[in-house]
Amino acid sequence: MFRLDQDLTLTIDGPAASGKSATAKLLARELGLSVLNTGAMYRCATALAIEHNCDVEHEKRLVELVRAARMHFDWKKDPPEIIAEGRSFMQRITDRDVSALVSRYSDCVPLRQLLVGMQRDVRDAHPRLVSEGRDQGSVVFPDADVKFYLHATPMKRAERRRDQLLLEKGLDINAQQLAEEIAQRDERDRKKPYGALTKPEGAFVVDSTELSLAQVVDMMKMVVVSKARRASGPAGSEDGHGTA
Ligand code: DC
Repeated sequence: MFRLDQDLTLTIDGPAASGKSATAKLLARELGLSVLNTGAMYRCATALAIEHNCDVEHEKRLVELVRAARMHFDWKKDPPEIIAEGRSFMQRITDRDVSALVSRYSDCVPLRQLLVGMQRDVRDAHPRLVSEGRDQGSVVFPDADVKFYLHATPMKRAERRRDQLLLEKGLDINAQQLAEEIAQRDERDRKKPYGALTKPEGAFVVDSTELSLAQVVDMMKMVVVSKARRASGPAGSEDGHGTA
């Protein structure tokens, strides 16, 4: 049983560019939760590897590098800022060289094990948490109170990513080209041997293709609130799963 005013873990899994980060940020704000952006951790590890010339094959060195960098979040910032080697990596992690390589570095199993451990430590320190990333409900927090699987068509995700790149970096990239890259990435991500993209058991599926960010967040909030109500109601019945 869970209550909205007590420890609460929500997870948002889903493919690349499905809007997990933006959704998690708003949902966290609405429900008074901390937010964990796990993609930022893989991106930061990749940025460190680039700076230290550490190839993806050098798994042991990569893990040592990330450990030594003392990667953590500054929770005083909203959203929390990713820090390593004592400096912020917030700007660096969205650069194109990092985006191009992060998928390969995130295949490194020892790195995943290190970051999964760090993510669980974050939940221990922030027990009211919404955590987003490809494997959060499936691998990292299978015991989450409510799990979501957020998706949209590759074309819709490409259009959103194009708009974001234009706004944040001034880059004008063809949406069709981005859609093809996204579809290929989905395919690769589903076949990964560890931390593969999958719908976690018991997750509420949210298709955001035709929905605005605000509508997605409202829908998720409704799911959480109604699940909490059911859990604390006289019958206490929790059927849990479904499609939103
Ligand atoms: O969500 P994002 O684009 O910031 O994620 C960056 C990369 O890290 C992407 O290739 C997916 C990967 N990732 C992962 O493998 N596991 C996570 N929990 C989060 C991200």
